[in-house]
Amino acid sequence: MPTPPPHLPPLDDQPVPPTAERRDFLKQLSTLAALSLVQPVQAMQNIEASPVPTPLLADDSAARLVPVTLRINGQTVQRTIDTRTTVLDLLREQLGLTGTKKGCNQGACGACTVHVNGQNVNSCLALAVMHQHQDITTIEGLGSPEQLHPMQVAFIAHDGFQCGYCTSGQIMSAVAVVRDGHARTETEIRELMSGNICRCGAYNGIVAAMQSVAAGGKGLTQRR
Ligand code: FES
Ligand code: FES
Repeated sequence: MPTPPPHLPPLDDQPVPPTAERRDFLKQLSTLAALSLVQPVQAMQNIEASPVPTPLLADDSAARLVPVTLRINGQTVQRTIDTRTTVLDLLREQLGLTGTKKGCNQGACGACTVHVNGQNVNSCLALAVMHQHQDITTIEGLGSPEQLHPMQVAFIAHDGFQCGYCTSGQIMSAVAVVRDGHARTETEIRELMSGNICRCGAYNGIVAAMQSVAAGGKGLTQRR
């Protein structure tokens, strides 16, 4: 047998707990182990018993409904709408006036331009509830198939469009720009129409159409 270090007693001399003590010791160990399993289970039970937290996005859609009254293309329209409804979505999805187009839906392209009390407005950024009792004019209210607005005639005459997706917004903006006397030069027209994007690049025709209307309709039948 190897000789133990001088500071330790020989192995044969190490005390062995009596059998009864060892049993008690093992019992205590198993009790502690059982407790360590029980406590997480109790914690889970406490969570399950606690009240259900209110969801961050509660379904309060009914609370968001409000009545609105608008004048659209000369007619009084009353609807109950979600407070978050834009003028564009009200026009297109609830009133079926799909002549106003949704391009970017964030105020960058001008495809959704309508007149609100005569002023150009990006309807995708305008909440309908903010325009109670105001006058809204869309492309459908500008002219009719039987009697087009002079700007519509001019756009046709000067090829002011290709695919047509931006055209209703272009025409609505063009009408307001010419009516307000801001179509004196080509530079002025391009500057004031810069909020209306045309992916087909029909800008030359649009400018020509506006110039012809600004000049009193001269050239409506002439192509550039
Ligand atoms: S859809 Fe409104 S600005 Fe583009
Ligand atoms: S005509 Fe196509 S985007 Fe303007």
